[in-house]
Order: sequence, then structure tokens, then C-alpha cells
Amino acid sequence: MAKKPWGGRFKAETNKLVEEFGESVSFDKKLALYDIRGSIAHARMLGKVGILTQEETRLIIQGLEEIAREIREGRFVWRKELEDVHMNIEAALREKIGPVAGKLHTARSRNDQVVTDVRLFLRDVADQVVERLRYLRKVLVKKARENMAVLMPGFTHLQHAQPVLFAHHLMAYYEMFRRDTQRFCAVRREINVCPLGSAALAGTPFPIDREMVAQELGFEAISRNSMDAVSDRDFILSFLSAAAITFVHLSRLMEEIILWMSPEFSFIDLPDELCTGSSIMPQKKNPDVAELIRGKTGRVFGNLLSLLTVLKGLPLTYNRDLQEDKEPLFDTCETLLSALSLSTLLIEGLQVKAERMRKACEEGHLTATDLADYLVLKGIPFRDAHHLVGQIVAYCEEKGCKLWELSLEELRNFSPEIAEDVFEWLTLEGSVSRRKVKGGTAPERVQEALLEAEKELLSEERGGENDQSHTRI
Ligand code: ARG
Repeated sequence: MAKKPWGGRFKAETNKLVEEFGESVSFDKKLALYDIRGSIAHARMLGKVGILTQEETRLIIQGLEEIAREIREGRFVWRKELEDVHMNIEAALREKIGPVAGKLHTARSRNDQVVTDVRLFLRDVADQVVERLRYLRKVLVKKARENMAVLMPGFTHLQHAQPVLFAHHLMAYYEMFRRDTQRFCAVRREINVCPLGSAALAGTPFPIDREMVAQELGFEAISRNSMDAVSDRDFILSFLSAAAITFVHLSRLMEEIILWMSPEFSFIDLPDELCTGSSIMPQKKNPDVAELIRGKTGRVFGNLLSLLTVLKGLPLTYNRDLQEDKEPLFDTCETLLSALSLSTLLIEGLQVKAERMRKACEEGHLTATDLADYLVLKGIPFRDAHHLVGQIVAYCEEKGCKLWELSLEELRNFSPEIAEDVFEWLTLEGSVSRRKVKGGTAPERVQEALLEAEKELLSEERGGENDQSHTRI
């Protein structure tokens, strides 16, 4: 039976159910290498300020490095009765180097230790998320570029609205994921603060060097209030919120992919290797990956709500409730990283059925707004033009024809202002190419957007974080 590091004041063994209920090592062992990194920085600092001798410092660091190796190689034995990752490592260190191991915990508590571990862990995850978001954006730009000539119906209310470039539609998602990238960069800055030195809650009487530890661990700052530092989980909330917002975007994109692949739309196809079949219907090819990403949005939202609920009403400072921050966080990290990779594969593999999209543009009088705009140019107030075109559309519906199939005479019956030049206003290409306003779907604007995106991706890859959220005026 392993001796508990906190066992001094206890006479009885811990109840097995309590041990089982309270252990966290089964999941917080994920933090082990970060825990060791934090401990090594702490030990080095204790050595520098003279709390540990050089020899003690050397022994402790060497022991910790050996333990790290055992963990990496899968040789380390985790013991639930030692509760959590911190006490497992401390106990292993004692077994290796003897009682001097006990000096490592000077001027430190598990309360500032655990939150340091989570910050180190999450900083790495945030970096990976940003990287994967960038790759997804890159693939969106590439797909948009390859399909610059493809027209599709733009929708509002899921009804045909106006023709747009398919590339413009894809680049709308690029914008969402760009904002997500910026959000995760901001979250990373919030994460990157060192709580070590706060100890249990009130700070420590030892003359430690907090800046040294922070610097060694790559933190940008040290926390300002010890009581806040040990109970603050806002940086996790921020991460979970950013993840939830990213999943809103992923889920919307997946919904579109699912719709587009249905025979009713038939706008795209997906490669076999990204789809699965049915165990009963031999003909089926299902977009399960997209559905799963849409479905996993539920747990990502749930994880945010779960931590919000844990934190609400907690008195200062550390409470064991805070141990419940980890599983939701780990789950969201894994779900987000894999969803980003898989959605990138989906976009990369998506085969565009340009003909079908164009055909769909012929349904639903997509250039009706253009006709109204034309009448405005002839001097008719927009509201009146709108009403007139409404009547023309109703006429087409009755006759079962398209706007551009009407004769000049038929059109002139509705307004004598209409002349021969109207027909170029009724074509799909004309409609798209006239929308030259900044941010519009005209091919030259979309070209510019693609160039801009490629430029910012390049500069982000070179290390310059892009924080321009809008077009500069
Ligand atoms: N396993 C704990 C957690 O995850 C570590 C900190 C425990 N501190 C304490 N005083 N019990 O929050």
C-alpha cells in the first residue's frame, strides 16, 4: 500500500470508495510531462535562491528526468491510491532518490501546481488548434481557387436567392475560421500566465523567484493575486468557448456538405474513403464524417456548460470541484483537433458538380433583384420596382417560364421603361459580375479576397499573427 504524501494527520486508511471516487490519475496522467517540466523549473529556482543545495537540486532534477523517460516509454506504473498525477510523481521521486524528494514541494502546493500543468498543456493544444485552423483555411482557399468559374445559387431561408460564386461561399467559411484563429491566439495569451508561487492560496514566505520560473517555462507573465491564481479557470472557459464557436462554424459547414451531397441538391460528391455504407441498404454512401462532426458539436457545447456550472458559486479559493475541469477540457481538445483535421480532408476531397450547381441557378428567378435594380437605373423608386418585378415573377410562375425567356413586349407590358438592354441584366453571369461592391461576389472581388487570404496565411506562417479583423478603411 502506497503511503499518501498527506497521510500525517490520518489514523485510518482511506475508504476504497472514496479513493475510487476521488482519484484523478486515470485522466490527469495526461499532464505528467508538463508536471515534470514545472517541477524541474521550480527545483532549479529553489536551487538558485539557496533553498536547495546544488547537490539536492541535481538529484531532484535527475530523478524527475528519469521518471519522464519511464513515462514516455510507457514503463511508469500509475497508482490510483496515490490519487493524482502530482502525488504519483512525487512518490516515484522519493522511491528513486529518497527523502530529499520531499524538499521539492517547498514553497509550492498542488493548487498552484495543477493549474500550472493545465496552462502548459493547453498552451500546446492552442498552438496545434491554430495550426490546424490555418491548414483548413488554406485548403478552403485552394478549393475556392480551383472553382472560380463555378456558379451556384446563394440561399436565404434555404430558398434560392441570388447567384453567387461557389468560391465566394467557401470564402465565407474562410472568414469564420480566420476569426476562430484570432480567438485562439487571444486565448493562448490568456493561458500563458504563470501561477507558480501562489502556493496553496496565500503565497509563500520563502524568498522565491517567480519570474525565473515563469521565464524558464515560457510564460509571458506571472499571476497578480495568489487567491485568484489558484482558483481561476477562466482561461479554460475561454478555450472551451472558442472551441464551441469554432464548432458552430464546423457544424454549419458540415450541414451544408450533407445537404449538398443529397440527391435533391447533388452539388458535390465525396471520395469513397471519407464515406461509409449501410449494413442493410447496399446502394448507400453516407457522409457520416460530416454528420459526426455536426453531432460532436453537442459534447463540445456540453463541456463548456459543464465547466460554467462547476465554477458558478464556488467560494474562493481552491475547491476539489475544480478537479472536474479536466475531463471536459480533454474531451474538447481531442474532439476539436480531430474535427479540424477531418473537415480539412472533407474540403480537400470534395468534388464539385459544377453543371448541377449551374442548373440549379436556373430555378427560382435568381436574377429578379437584378431586374428591380435595372428599373431603378431607369428612374423607378426601388420599392415600386420591387413590386413590379414581383408581378413579373408571378406572371412567369403562371406561364411556367424563366425571367429571361420573356419577350421584350411581355416585359414592357409591366413597365414601358424596360428596353432591349434589359436582357444582359437577367443573365446569371451578369448578375454575379455586377456585384463589384467590396466584399461582393463579383469574380474580381473574389480574386482579391483569395489573394488577401493567401497573403495573410503566408504572413501568419512566417510568425506574424494577423489581427486585422476587418478591411481597413
Ligand atoms: N487533482 C487535483 C485537481 O485536479 C489536484 C489539486 C488537489 N489539491 C488539493 N488540495 N486537494 O484539482
